[in-house]
Amino acid sequence: MNDKRVFVIEHPLIQHKLSLIRDINTGVKEFRELVEEIAMLMGYEVTRNLPLKEVEIETPVAIAKTKVISGKKLAIVPILRAGLGMVDGMLRLIPAAKVGHIGLYRDPETLEPVEYYCKLPTDVEERDLIVLDPMLATGGSASAAIKFIKDRKVKNIKLMCLIASPEGIERVCRDHPDVDIYCAAIDERLNDHGYIVPGLGDAGDRLFGTK
Ligand code: PRP
Ligand code: URA
Repeated sequence: MNDKRVFVIEHPLIQHKLSLIRDINTGVKEFRELVEEIAMLMGYEVTRNLPLKEVEIETPVAIAKTKVISGKKLAIVPILRAGLGMVDGMLRLIPAAKVGHIGLYRDPETLEPVEYYCKLPTDVEERDLIVLDPMLATGGSASAAIKFIKDRKVKNIKLMCLIASPEGIERVCRDHPDVDIYCAAIDERLNDHGYIVPGLGDAGDRLFGTK
């Protein structure tokens, strides 16, 4: 595992909220709100190294030399469905970001990702991308999504998830050693059905109330 590329965000607010979404008794409304809040808090760390440039701003009192974000524009790409739950939190921090969508579901038998949708911004190759998915389990979905994006000549890609498994991290680090992975926790393992243990269950079902 290339640890230099894996960042576990230990902020107390994130850890507290993560405990709440793991809880089987947390209902759909609260789960959805918490996922959005955690995404926003994590987004603060994920965007920590955005480049700045100096500008001059006229305040009511004088000219101020201040800083604004420079460099490439951003796009966020949720992996459907569960990644959608993280979009609004990220957009609260970076409201001008474009949003692409990649639709993948995991075949329950083979655990392999199956693509059903891909729509990325037309200027995607000129942007830095943050891929969003709450769960990094086998890593198959994230790895496939990152490959679609790389096929569109995007150079700088980060993956942001809430809970990762050691297996998922290993897979993404192996397939995409140039991609930074941000998560709030690395759990113990996968079970026989490819679910993260202890994890939080099926993130899509818990977000959308489909089970
Ligand atoms: C979940 C999750 C990831 C994927 C992770 O999606 O949101 O996309 O599983 O598993 P992997 O790392 O083993 O590929 P799921 O396939 O359940 O689809 P959904 O979001 O539509 O519920
Ligand atoms: N997808 C989920 O939603 N949860 C898991 O634990 C694994 C894959």
